[in-house]
Amino acid sequence: MAVQAAAGTPADTVGVSLGPAAALSCRECGERTPLGPVFACEACFGPLEIAYDFPGGDTEGLRKRIEAGPDNIWRYAPLLPVPEDVAAKPNTNPGFTKLVRADRLARELGVTGSLHIKDDSGNPTHSFKDRVVAIAVEAARAFGFTTLSCSSTGNLAGAVGAAAARAGLRSCVFIPHDLEQGKVVMAAVYGGELVGIEGNYDDVNRFCSELIGDPAGEGWGFVNVNLRPYYAEGSKTLAYEICEQLGWRLPDQLVVPIASGSQLTKIDKGLKELIALGLVEDRPYRIFGAQAEGCSPVSRAFKDGHDVVRPVRPDTIAKSLAIGNPADGPYVLDIARRTGGAVEDVDDPRIVDAIKLLARTEGIFAETAGGVTVGVTKKLIEEGRLDPALTTVVLNTGDGLKTLDAVAPTTGPTAVIRPNLDSFREAGLAS
Ligand SMILES: Cc1ncc(COP(=O)(O)O)c(C=O)c1O
Ligand SMILES: [Zn+2]
Repeated sequence: MAVQAAAGTPADTVGVSLGPAAALSCRECGERTPLGPVFACEACFGPLEIAYDFPGGDTEGLRKRIEAGPDNIWRYAPLLPVPEDVAAKPNTNPGFTKLVRADRLARELGVTGSLHIKDDSGNPTHSFKDRVVAIAVEAARAFGFTTLSCSSTGNLAGAVGAAAARAGLRSCVFIPHDLEQGKVVMAAVYGGELVGIEGNYDDVNRFCSELIGDPAGEGWGFVNVNLRPYYAEGSKTLAYEICEQLGWRLPDQLVVPIASGSQLTKIDKGLKELIALGLVEDRPYRIFGAQAEGCSPVSRAFKDGHDVVRPVRPDTIAKSLAIGNPADGPYVLDIARRTGGAVEDVDDPRIVDAIKLLARTEGIFAETAGGVTVGVTKKLIEEGRLDPALTTVVLNTGDGLKTLDAVAPTTGPTAVIRPNLDSFREAGLAS
């Protein structure tokens, strides 16, 4: 089948070689298409994803090769759509972030099994988005794009700015105009173009799709639009790392935040790949999706038993998750139902409480998205829907320093005293 590259695509982009990536395949009808900067199936407009030819057979050899690899996502290069020499190219080298055993949080939540926080605030631009962008940059290079771009709820903008700077590409990113200051500063500091759009994320995304179809977007690689099939694969590295860090074991339960739903679907894909490759034992696992109540279209559909996700207009402090029309929503529903998980939401006050709970018990300062996952975990345990006796991994996908606005109104000095010992004693601070 001929591949129709989108308008604005550089010439000769079809047929490049990206490691084990064999083709693009439609998630709806299975139609295959050669690798290229395309994201929708020609036959049915379904989303495209990467199909692989993985090296078969030598499981032990593959495990050893991964373990001997660098302490970043490139240790999994044999399982990613990237060239063999990827680790040698200038990039931000994200990944291999800490899996923190959270015993104090577990006690507060009544978890008797093991509870872990996968803390992706430790990535180069302090969110999980560095993983997806690193893969998209390789595709952008392969397809000859000269400008790296995205529509973003904030974190992606920073990750694209940093990755483009490192790769020597121009960047121009689009965000809703009213994001948290921390996100805006992080997106701006790397020196690319930063465009605030008067509208919400869904408006930004619509505008970017228009730009791709126009000659004005010539040579532009939008990491989460025309490079989306490649970009999305970066989230699989979270699944790989979690299993490797658990001693090549699947966790029993995972709690994952949802914006577009891409991360959750790719974590599931990554876990299935590890099983298929024999790198982990095939056991049941359950995936729980987490949303903010003020933007919970997937949670709503899950609770109503619907297969269709009805778009909403977001209104929540969890701006990184504020996508009212999530592209991967229906796939998230399938995964939550198939694995015996669920999709749940928490309101803004509980998001702030959860941020503080995680900080107080484990010394981890999460952004609002982490407040959403910890808050949803607490709710699911209280309602008896998450098994407290099993191994649970909760994702913290971003750093609290980016969303200070969310917690600032309810935090501050616990006492203000004069600089002398009497004042200190009077305040009841002596041990
Ligand atoms: C911190 C954070 N966590 C999670 C997500 C969810 O990502 P996805 O769109 O893959 O569901 C985002 C998306 O922007 C994010 O910024
Ligand atoms: Zn199709």
